[in-house]
Amino acid sequence: MFQVSPSGTTQYSSDATMPRTVISVSQLGKRYGTTVAVDEVSLDVYEGEVFGLIGPNGAGKTTTMECVEGLRRPDRGTIAVLGLHPQRDATALRQRIGVQHQEAHLQKRIKVWEALDLWATLYPGAVDTDALLAQLGLESKRNAWFMTLSGGQKQRLFVALALVHDPEVVFLDELTTGLDPQARRAIWELISGIKARGKTVFLTTHLMEEAERLCDRVAIIEHGRVIEMGTPAALVERHCPQRRVVFTTDATDAAQSFHRIATLRSIHSDGATHTLEGTGDDFVTDVINVIAREGIRVRGFRTEIPTLEDVFLKLTGHGVRD
Ligand SMILES: Nc1ncnc2c1ncn2[C@@H]1O[C@H](COP(=O)(O)OP(=O)(O)OP(=O)(O)O)[C@@H](O)[C@H]1O
Ligand SMILES: [Mg+2]
Repeated sequence: MFQVSPSGTTQYSSDATMPRTVISVSQLGKRYGTTVAVDEVSLDVYEGEVFGLIGPNGAGKTTTMECVEGLRRPDRGTIAVLGLHPQRDATALRQRIGVQHQEAHLQKRIKVWEALDLWATLYPGAVDTDALLAQLGLESKRNAWFMTLSGGQKQRLFVALALVHDPEVVFLDELTTGLDPQARRAIWELISGIKARGKTVFLTTHLMEEAERLCDRVAIIEHGRVIEMGTPAALVERHCPQRRVVFTTDATDAAQSFHRIATLRSIHSDGATHTLEGTGDDFVTDVINVIAREGIRVRGFRTEIPTLEDVFLKLTGHGVRD
């Protein structure tokens, strides 16, 4: 196996378990006038993974992605994509990456099939464009003008255009913003399919559910800096390890039975409803065991397990935008 260093040189590693780094960003910085868009971003994306950049509006996600794609020139730092320099090797790189932009336009009267055909002519070995349209639920719009497409249909067309040459690395900037739930799920399936074929996906999203479902790893970026990075599960475990069980029972004094659970943090009782908070993977099982052992008759029972959204809110103190 081999690794690509931030300088863009290829290093061979004897460790077969080492994932190959396909995107390497080191100490990236970018300003627009006096606005610091990217203060300092360093990250590696490995071959075959879906990597998500998440962060509040204006955090520097698009700027970072566009520097990696070679569309913007960084002020400082080094970037390598597939061992290539995004700007010096732009022509070679363009054949191997697919890009969907956060805000993109086409001419009004280009038809969907014409756009796909045009894109396909730019690359040797383009995929079957009709199959791609079908996958994105756009077959019925094959002959439609771009200007007649709905926002979500345009978005899907741009995803199709990013995939037309079956690229090794796919960049998707807010791929499902503005899509309805069906289209969103169809795109999630498509991304899972891309990953299953060994491709690497680098995406940004404001949807934490999307990041949690799709991404092997995420980096949380705020004010142009990466403040956390890891698998969604590891980040939840690290920052929000608490678990909550809420149950309803008519049994009086039910709350007394749970104090012996070592991982219990708190119990809050409001009439017949009891809320128990604790930590660790065994907490919910321990609560269930006590309920069973004490024969507590439960009318309602639910668990609340923190998600990536809780981590995001805790670390950034912001809400997220769809
Ligand atoms: N072309 C530009 N000229 C001047 N300032 C810019 C430009 N593009 C972005 N910025 C500024 O740089 C900062 C980072 O913007 P960027 O688009 O990278 O953020 P983002 O994380 O992608 O945000 P969003 O979630 O809203 O898409 C913001 O403060 C933005 O106003
Ligand atoms: Mg953006």
